Amino acid sequence: MDFKRCDQTVAWTALQGHFEAHGRDFDLREQFARDPQRFAQFTLAAPEVFADLSKNRWDVATRRLLTELARECGLEARRDAMFAGEPINTTEGRAVLHTALRAPRGQGLFSDEVHGVLDRMLAFADSVRDIAASGIRHVVNIGIGGSDLGPQMVVPALDAYAHPGITLHFVSNVDGHDITPVLRRLQPSETLFIIASKTFTTQETMANAAVARDWFLAHGGDEAAIASHFVGATTNLAAAAAFGIHTTFGFWDWVGGRYSLWSAIGLPIAIAIGSDHFRALLAGAHAMDQHFATTPLHDNLPVQLGLLDVWYRNFHRFTSRSVAPYHQGLKRLPAYLQQLEMESNGKQVDLAGERLPIGSSPVVWGEPGTNGQHAYFQMLHQGTDVIPVEFIAVKHPTHPHTGLQAKALANCLAQSQALMLGKTTEAALAERAPTASATLGKLTLARHRTFPGNRPSTTLLLERLTPSALGALIALYEHRVFTSGVLWGINSFDQWGVELGKALASELLPRLSDPARLGDGSGLDASTAGLLAWLTAGAA
Ligand code: F6P
Repeated sequence: MDFKRCDQTVAWTALQGHFEAHGRDFDLREQFARDPQRFAQFTLAAPEVFADLSKNRWDVATRRLLTELARECGLEARRDAMFAGEPINTTEGRAVLHTALRAPRGQGLFSDEVHGVLDRMLAFADSVRDIAASGIRHVVNIGIGGSDLGPQMVVPALDAYAHPGITLHFVSNVDGHDITPVLRRLQPSETLFIIASKTFTTQETMANAAVARDWFLAHGGDEAAIASHFVGATTNLAAAAAFGIHTTFGFWDWVGGRYSLWSAIGLPIAIAIGSDHFRALLAGAHAMDQHFATTPLHDNLPVQLGLLDVWYRNFHRFTSRSVAPYHQGLKRLPAYLQQLEMESNGKQVDLAGERLPIGSSPVVWGEPGTNGQHAYFQMLHQGTDVIPVEFIAVKHPTHPHTGLQAKALANCLAQSQALMLGKTTEAALAERAPTASATLGKLTLARHRTFPGNRPSTTLLLERLTPSALGALIALYEHRVFTSGVLWGINSFDQWGVELGKALASELLPRLSDPARLGDGSGLDASTAGLLAWLTAGAA
């Protein structure tokens, strides 16, 4: 595939000069003081999302050059190739078509197949939601990575829309401490298990599915009942049938795991919120797809966010980004984004297999505000590293506690303000801090209470956390990750980096489970052999 890596462009060289002249010492406070239009210039409206990018370390020239960089890297052509179903996942020879999953009937590629499964899945979801007929009160999704994180993030986010009589559980970890407490609370007759696995071979999911089946049979369920209490969401229908699952909802190899919540992997979401709301989730994502596909790059929100990511990673050399949703429903968003961004763009070679001379994915991490404020925000404000923060806030809550909502929003705005404004030592000297030591020198104390400021942040605002708004927000992140991936010239749609550990775990497994090989450290490095010996001592 033809591609141009960002560091090989004319715009890159221009950006290097621009960074030296105007980027390295960029001061947000000065920029706001100088330019009364800054907020208006650096805010963008996309479907369902209003974005304030003005508290970032860029100016009009930076944005113009970055947009030029995107053009030179052929972002528009690569985007169009994705939408057109070209095999842009080159290392696996696959198309990348999660956008087709949310295209309205008759409009996207593979529309008949997509809407055929969607209709069937949503009809099934609605039948489960009819508790009087289904008897189902608990749904356990067994899956991991992309077959877990999307539904696990969306279900609490849309709790206000959820069926009050059905509890969703998520089991992912092969560590038995995950499934054990879940099963303890369940009755087979009231429980539906969804075995969610694109490949239907993933060790963790297969192992947990087997535990669930054994539990089901040991607690009064029988083989015949398995057919109505276990369903599958997978591309591997044959393997699901071999497991004894007869109700399956398929999808296709052109749906990447971390882009799959729009497919049959979304079944737990559909059961929680119902078919109409699931369709609204898809519609919100589709609206963002349209924005990404048609809006000029300069005003294209996912594009501009992706460009800022490149600017920060490769010029400012910031290595991480923190996400702070000021909505408790979005508590799993940072974990979801970790897979989306780090599994997509955590790559060290470009599409031609050449080693990247520049940094790729930053570390993405975070917690909902205001919890994070009482944990690691100290470091964000006064630590030695600059970490751009992404605030997400929702104007209208679904709870009735207006006082709490005002406090959450005030905190959100205050944090981005504090990061940017900081506090000088002079200002700290002029203050009286009630809890400060009375014996420490005034200047020493003031230095401890100084904030450097000029710390960048982005704020994304939603009117309401509706299914449609959440769909748009997730699609926004998908396309932003696509944008930076294109600029870095990498394949954002494979994940070879997870293979080595899987293979080594299979090799180690008999040494921990086979009585004939227990603790066998032969051929292992001394550290692994020593740890193995410790773990298996006395177990024979
Ligand atoms: O961790 C690697 C990975 O392949 C992810 O990309 C994927 O989401 C996850 O495993 C689960 O895979 P599957 O859906 O095939 O069980």
